Amino acid sequence: MGSLPILEIERLSIVINTGGEKVYPVQDISCRVYKGDRIGIVGESGSGKSIFALSIGNLLTPGVFSVKAEKFRFLDYNLLNLSESSWQKIRGTHIGYVFQESLVSLNPHLTVGTQLTEHLVAHRGVSKKDAQKSAVDILAKLQLSDPISRMKMYPHQLSGGMRQRIAIAMALMLTPTLIIADEPTTALDATLQVQIVNLLNIISREYGSSVIFITHDLSLLANFSSHIWVMYGGKILETAPVECLYREPLHPYTKILISIRHNLEEKKILKTIPGSPPDMKTLYPGCPFYDRCRFAKEECNNSAVSLVELLPNHYTACTLVQKGEITL
Ligand SMILES: Nc1ncnc2c1ncn2[C@@H]1O[C@H](COP(=O)(O)OP(=O)(O)O)[C@@H](O)[C@H]1O
Ligand code: SF4
Ligand SMILES: [Mg+2]
Repeated sequence: MGSLPILEIERLSIVINTGGEKVYPVQDISCRVYKGDRIGIVGESGSGKSIFALSIGNLLTPGVFSVKAEKFRFLDYNLLNLSESSWQKIRGTHIGYVFQESLVSLNPHLTVGTQLTEHLVAHRGVSKKDAQKSAVDILAKLQLSDPISRMKMYPHQLSGGMRQRIAIAMALMLTPTLIIADEPTTALDATLQVQIVNLLNIISREYGSSVIFITHDLSLLANFSSHIWVMYGGKILETAPVECLYREPLHPYTKILISIRHNLEEKKILKTIPGSPPDMKTLYPGCPFYDRCRFAKEECNNSAVSLVELLPNHYTACTLVQKGEITL
């Protein structure tokens, strides 16, 4: 790819200091996001997905979370050294978040219309009337019925599916460069989930926004993502264009995820993979999947893992696959 990535991260590690005990939710992650990418991050609960996502917008509490990286760049901003006013600009203009529970991001005391338009009026100097028109347009694109009257409603007057569309509309109002959607459909029923993912797909293409979509449901990513990143134990273990990952997973952990296919809800995973999920109080010197991998050798635990491109655009962090010692 010739163009510069919009987001470039090298060797990002995050430590949580919880009164004497340390937790290591992100362990030495390097990655890039290009304009128009629709990245799906998939991983079991507790693998560090949300903390990673929050670090991009500097939404982690200082003093509790310490963030270190060799490079952490978004557009022209060095995220390791930014003033609060630059952060506000980034969050208000360039990065739009959608969280799992829309009630968290919506203000119960303000109408949908006010919430959707206030940032556009404040950050872009758009007139109230034009902002309202944009909001109604976006709600209509998100297939919310009767958008004009919904604008006058309060969040509690809407269903969960409607609220989630409002939360997505809020993230889209400023046509952000990057949308980060953290399990945005998890609380919804299966049909609505697919509908919302499809709408996010269509709209992100129309607006040219890159998207990071976080989920533990691999099946949702098949029709959405351009690329999938597989996260486990605070590390990215494999990245690939979506069809390559499904067709030819290169990492033993991904292979199991693909065989389970859909939702990585815990019981299924535990039944399929012996041993316990990774404990994030451990800083893994090598492969975090070591304890549960049937191919594991001593060296997997001792040598640092890094993503290596084995097929075009398809990277794996399995040392033994990289050396050609195992094939799946
Ligand atoms: N505020 C916190 N204090 C202590 N540990 C935390 C805190 N937030 C998250 N963690 C731990 O960090 C790890 C990663 O969490 P998270 O990023 O939320 O995982 P995921 O989104 O993949 O489910 C988990 O082990 C979680 O228990
Ligand atoms: S590096 Fe070793 S332990 Fe990790 S997935 Fe590969 S073979 Fe298994
Ligand atoms: Mg999470």
